[in-house]
Amino acid sequence: MPGFFISMTNLLKSLTSIPADIVTAQDYEALAQRFIPAPTYAYIAGGSAQDETLAANRAAFSQYVICPRLLRDLSSATTHTIIAGKQFAHPILLAPVAYQRLVHPGGEIDSARAAAATDSTLILSTLSSHSLEDVAAATPANKWFQLYFQPVREHTLDLVKRAEAAGYSALVVTLDASIQVPSRRAQHAGFYLPPEISAVNLRSYCSESSAAAPAKNIFSLLRNAPNWQDLQWLQAQTKLPIWVKGVLHPEDAKALKALGITGIVVSNHGGRGLDGVATSMQMLPLIRGAVGAEFPLLLDSGIRSGKDIFKALALGADGVLIGRLQIYALSVAGALGVAHMMKLLREELEVCMAMAGCSAISDIDTTYLMPAVSAPTIGAVHFSGE
Ligand SMILES: Cc1cc2nc3c(=O)[nH]c(=O)nc-3n(C[C@H](O)[C@H](O)[C@H](O)COP(=O)(O)O)c2cc1C
Repeated sequence: MPGFFISMTNLLKSLTSIPADIVTAQDYEALAQRFIPAPTYAYIAGGSAQDETLAANRAAFSQYVICPRLLRDLSSATTHTIIAGKQFAHPILLAPVAYQRLVHPGGEIDSARAAAATDSTLILSTLSSHSLEDVAAATPANKWFQLYFQPVREHTLDLVKRAEAAGYSALVVTLDASIQVPSRRAQHAGFYLPPEISAVNLRSYCSESSAAAPAKNIFSLLRNAPNWQDLQWLQAQTKLPIWVKGVLHPEDAKALKALGITGIVVSNHGGRGLDGVATSMQMLPLIRGAVGAEFPLLLDSGIRSGKDIFKALALGADGVLIGRLQIYALSVAGALGVAHMMKLLREELEVCMAMAGCSAISDIDTTYLMPAVSAPTIGAVHFSGE
């Protein structure tokens, strides 16, 4: 289908300065459509099947409103925070997103440079289109490596050892994508991966990643799907902190905590896994309740603004991951775009904190949220705290 073939030459040249009309992080979403070929945009923006979860992810944030407080002392306000015992300048991390050269030749290297410029942590995908070694060499940013279990254990172990040697400081094991359901939107748009872009980290293993392979034969893919024993095996192979990404069930969260996992990313893969699953925001309070106040929890799926981040933190997340916005900003202006988008998100969070009356990330809790209601009850306002 040559008409659908996506050539890199189709990409509009990305910008070297930021357009004046980008005033919020979410503005990159619409602008990116001018920089990304339509089939590729469909692949990135789309969810799975009927996109029910994709839509629910956004709606979940509108189900809460913020209840601001007055006259708080904000003189020492800061976004600095501690996550799993480590200092972070802010609680906003760059999510693992595969094949970033699809939208910009700098790809993951540019995202990593943006992470360094904004004191952010980059989580590099197993399916990155620049090698994990090249990305590590290009930036002093704090880097975590997102691991997909490979069909052959030696290959998984080799990835882990390479990540350790290259200076990645944590592993993020994604467990909600044993089968990649092809996006209907991307299929209808005729998207497929051009030959010049591939999962270069896996090149020497001569076998397809189960996560990268199309679901032609579901049962053969499931034979390679990781289980609890595989996770325990992994724990014995590395001293790196291990996060698990893709958790939605409180019982899984409890079991992972009991296993000694460092932390959890509450995620539905941005609506790209099983369509019709719960949203991260829906499950977060239940998962927080199951693992207790101290256990490290990150959240993603649907975040588009500082206000969304505030709501996720209020419901119990220690930090958040940014998926699609990263790719949209990368397409518009490479490293500069991603850095600008992250700066905007952090400022939006700062404004939200200031106007809600919070001077520290640890101040943000459920007392600042209420369920949104279509018609407020006159004379009777329910507060969840204080
Ligand atoms: C195009 C695309 C590729 C992705 N690739 C990966 C991946 O390789 N590994 C992974 O763990 N998650 C992957 N994700 C999921 C993201 O890490 C993250 O969970 C999701 O994008 C968050 O939702 P958001 O896009 O609404 O921010 C991908 C998401 C998108 C949109």
